[in-house]
Amino acid sequence: EKGGFKHFMAKEIAEQPGVLADAMAHYLQDDRLNIDVDFAGVGRITMVACGTASYACHVAKYWFEQIAGLPCEFDIASEFRYREPVLSPTSWALFVSQSGETADTLAALRYAREHVARIVSVVNVPTSSIARESDLALPIMAGVEVGVASTKAFTCQLLVLALLALKAGVDRGRLDAAALAGHIAALRALPGLMNHALQMSGDIAGVADDLARARDVLFLGRGAMFPLALEGALKLKEISYIHAEGYASGELKHGPIALIDEDVPVIVLAPRDALFEKTVSNMQEVMARNGKVLLISDKAGVEEAGQKTWARLMMPDCSPMFAPILYALPAQLLAYHTAVAKGTDVDQPRNLAKSVTVE
Ligand code: F6R
Repeated sequence: EKGGFKHFMAKEIAEQPGVLADAMAHYLQDDRLNIDVDFAGVGRITMVACGTASYACHVAKYWFEQIAGLPCEFDIASEFRYREPVLSPTSWALFVSQSGETADTLAALRYAREHVARIVSVVNVPTSSIARESDLALPIMAGVEVGVASTKAFTCQLLVLALLALKAGVDRGRLDAAALAGHIAALRALPGLMNHALQMSGDIAGVADDLARARDVLFLGRGAMFPLALEGALKLKEISYIHAEGYASGELKHGPIALIDEDVPVIVLAPRDALFEKTVSNMQEVMARNGKVLLISDKAGVEEAGQKTWARLMMPDCSPMFAPILYALPAQLLAYHTAVAKGTDVDQPRNLAKSVTVE
């Protein structure tokens, strides 16, 4: 049932090009978005989720703002449900959950129901409680995810959220047909690019053998790569039990730089986009303190800034906007191979459950 893979996690990582293409086939007809929502008149989007799903929301905040100019916030469900959030009748609330049964997310949905115009959910299990209690449930089409660490559900959540941001851009008059077609072409390129990234698994395993000896690891990213740094750190800690933190690159000098020495690997997620130079300057601050930098970038980025780094992973070129979907793969593979090198239980990490139905 693991289809020749040693672990469900490896199988599910490898399934991503296929399931992403399936989800695209479901939601995209040629250049038309097949999503039954209309964002005209929506004042604000409030997104709520837990764990990896909350990082998908965090990435999507950048998309809703940049693509659709739509005010957007997100929160983790356990905070949202108790902090008396101020919602408005023109707001929509969006809940993201693989299982659709996460107790805090469901409670947050029930709270929001009284306060917002519409409840939309992005779920993997269409028969789940969260799906049933939503006005509209959008399936992510990832198929059954067995590994406790979420992988293919994350990238499929990101895809559906990206499509929602595009729909919002169209409905709000922010995206003309040409711009929409450009974004859709960038999304359609992702499965092929993911296949390319999966071929880097062997290189990543080599780096992971060293990473497995670390006590602490930092992940850095800027813009929509910041939440991906958080996701990379979460994945590494939950399956390899190595302490890891994700930071926005610009926050480095506000505290975490004190941790840097030659024993702390720092993983920098930085495609050659508009923020690249800024991230590189943060990376150089790490290297000046003997930090071991692993730069994950594209060809241009690695050629420009990779010379003195400890290690480099050269990703295929992709649209900067949707790079978080592609860069999720090396983050997952790093965690996976590090855990394998350490010999931990990859699919069933200690203390964790696949579906968290108690708060
Ligand atoms: C991490 C992970 C968890 C879940 C979280 C939410 O790899 O899997 O952080 O993302 O427990 O679960 P769902 O999406 O089922 O609500």
